[in-house]
Amino acid sequence: MENKSLNKNLHSAKNAKKDEFYTQLPDIERELRHYKDHFKGKTVFCNCDDPRVSNFFNYFALNFEPLGLKKLITTCYKSQNADLFSTNDSESAVYLEYYGDKNDNKVPDPEEIGIKKLSGDGDFRSKESIKLLKQADIVVTNPPFSLFREYVAQLMEYDKKFVIIGHQNSITYKEIFKLIKENKIWLGYGFKRNCAHFINSHYVDYASDADHKEGMIRVSGIVWFTNLDIQKRHEDLILFKKYTPEEYPKYDNYDAINVDKTKEIPMDYDGAMGVPITFLDKYNPEQFEILGQMVTTTIDDFNFGYPYVNGKKIYARILIRNKRI
Ligand SMILES: C[S@@+](CC[C@H](N)C(=O)[O-])C[C@H]1O[C@@H](n2cnc3c(N)ncnc32)[C@H](O)[C@@H]1O
Repeated sequence: MENKSLNKNLHSAKNAKKDEFYTQLPDIERELRHYKDHFKGKTVFCNCDDPRVSNFFNYFALNFEPLGLKKLITTCYKSQNADLFSTNDSESAVYLEYYGDKNDNKVPDPEEIGIKKLSGDGDFRSKESIKLLKQADIVVTNPPFSLFREYVAQLMEYDKKFVIIGHQNSITYKEIFKLIKENKIWLGYGFKRNCAHFINSHYVDYASDADHKEGMIRVSGIVWFTNLDIQKRHEDLILFKKYTPEEYPKYDNYDAINVDKTKEIPMDYDGAMGVPITFLDKYNPEQFEILGQMVTTTIDDFNFGYPYVNGKKIYARILIRNKRI
């Protein structure tokens, strides 16, 4: 029994640690340059962001005028594990409101930034934080990985636009996949080679020497999720391969052909096709329809279980159909 609770504590400590990865400014700039038109006249909320360390706050404060923002709100979470992992070491959680540069020096001065105390811990699910969320048009942040499902569910509940960072593993979560299938959320432009370097001093980086950066942790499979319209979502994937039953065998357990590489989707097949999950990076809903996924042993409404070809289990797949045929 003791061992169990010790394991549980270690597990949540590990997750809390993973929640303390800070995003670099160039990565934020690289993604958000594709969304500029969406921000004019809007209130942006960064609800998992200590303004002293958050580059999301920096990005929006410094680009307030060029983006034509109406207001920037940022809440800082007072983590219960503050001593261990977090840099959120203020006495209590705070929130901050910024209405732009008043003295024309083009930088957000301390007196222009209204810092107010929160009575609670600044949890994004708290009443206070939800009250601020209601004022917001667009939420932009890197939320705690361990609470991703809940985080997205709340954004959907309050019908908010968002651009947020998450792990590609969450694509296959039942709740998230349903939203992707229904074209309610999609992938943004992404990190170089789907790999992010986050600022984190608590980890010894496992990146190879060439890739190693001091005080940083390299995490692969990191993606941006959004529900703001972006150009890439309207670009067709160019298809060049022709279907042959030999090259594209059917699954034993679902009536679909197997496609090992997204770029090898046959141009002339009009039935269901199983493609790698990374297909979503190229997904244009005018070109393809998402039918379901084959990702785990537990089956649900849209998950038909791991795919098998001639008795052999293969990698997880997303099931799609070409709408243009
Ligand atoms: C992955 S970090 C990213 C921090 C920052 N958004 C950035 O990108 O640099 C997630 C942040 O969420 C905070 N956090 C953890 N649980 C939270 C909660 N329940 N409500 C609000 N913030 C939380 C953590 O303290 C951490 O600062």
